[in-house]
Amino acid sequence: MDLNLSRSVKLNDGHVMPVLGFGTLASDDVPKSKCGEATKVAIDVGFRHFDAAYVYQNEEEVGKAIREKIAEGTVKREDIFYTTKLWTTFCRPELVRPALERSLKALQLDYVDLFIIHLPIAMKPGEELMPKDANGEVILETVDLCGTWAAMEKCKDAGLAKSIGVSNFNHKQLEMILNKPGLEYKPVCNQVECHPYLNQSKLLEFCKSKDIVLVAYSALGSQKNPAWVERGSPSLLEEPVLNAIAKKHNRSPGQVALRFQLQRGVVVLVKSFNQKRIKENFEVFDFELTPEDMKAIEGLNRNFRYFKLPFAVGHPHYPFSEEY
Ligand SMILES: NC(=O)c1ccc[n+]([C@@H]2O[C@H](COP(=O)([O-])OP(=O)(O)OC[C@H]3O[C@@H](n4cnc5c(N)ncnc54)[C@H](OP(=O)(O)O)[C@@H]3O)[C@@H](O)[C@H]2O)c1
Repeated sequence: MDLNLSRSVKLNDGHVMPVLGFGTLASDDVPKSKCGEATKVAIDVGFRHFDAAYVYQNEEEVGKAIREKIAEGTVKREDIFYTTKLWTTFCRPELVRPALERSLKALQLDYVDLFIIHLPIAMKPGEELMPKDANGEVILETVDLCGTWAAMEKCKDAGLAKSIGVSNFNHKQLEMILNKPGLEYKPVCNQVECHPYLNQSKLLEFCKSKDIVLVAYSALGSQKNPAWVERGSPSLLEEPVLNAIAKKHNRSPGQVALRFQLQRGVVVLVKSFNQKRIKENFEVFDFELTPEDMKAIEGLNRNFRYFKLPFAVGHPHYPFSEEY
């Protein structure tokens, strides 16, 4: 019973993406093996879409978990939708394909389903994930993102990525790619922070008008990792309105936050490394929020961002100074 909801969405290049994805990001103090274990549990409970990234430094473990599940016959490679991301130190066009090849090597897979530009902001190339100067400031550089995009297109042509897209782009940056002279492929998606406190309604409308899927991250209000998120940020899952709706449906506030996105046509990611919560997060296809519930959740929007990227404020490509 899926209650009027398809479990996958057709992308603008013809490929298909499951609408509910498993997030694999964890803070540095969590052993990487936990991510592999959680990935296996996620496959067992039904997740088929996996969101990872070079910068998460977990692709070896996630790849191993997926390959083990394929080897034991639980899934086939073509059942899995795997996303990786181009980290900001590899935005120069000549670094794009080698970066993807590095991820594929760690994964021990022949292709990824989706390869996305992680951020519209470039950093100095090199082995450091966050290159810093003598004052401890992150070293940014300005790269023509249209050149980066052309290199992403070549990865698709080479069959290393079935689909290509972007992340953390605002509508102007999306427009820049869409208007690129000689554009071969449109981005299939824009993965952005999206939850009831930052519902991205304008960006969603824009993306829908261009047949670009909006993929929501931090849909439960992020992990509030102090390395990235300010202390004292609000706790979404304690929100009284979400809790009241959850109680009415005999569900958890997390399930309501996920179902909210699915019902508004957003593909949603969710991270948990806890067996019970991984299972719970997949149980969002057998209940339905009413139009009143949806309206009440939409009313929670306050344009509050957990990820503000302070190191990039003022950079010409800083995405979050635009209204959407
Ligand atoms: N493109 C980007 O720049 C970007 C940025 C951030 C995230 N992402 C992607 O999006 C994914 C999801 O976002 P996120 O990692 O920020 O976290 P999230 O999905 O908002 O989850 C936040 C926290 O909620 C807990 N949780 C999960 N299910 C729950 C439930 N049913 N009830 C109560 N608590 C629950 C989890 O802890 P437990 O593990 O203890 O359950 C998790 O740490 C990431 O893993 C990553 O793949 C992308």
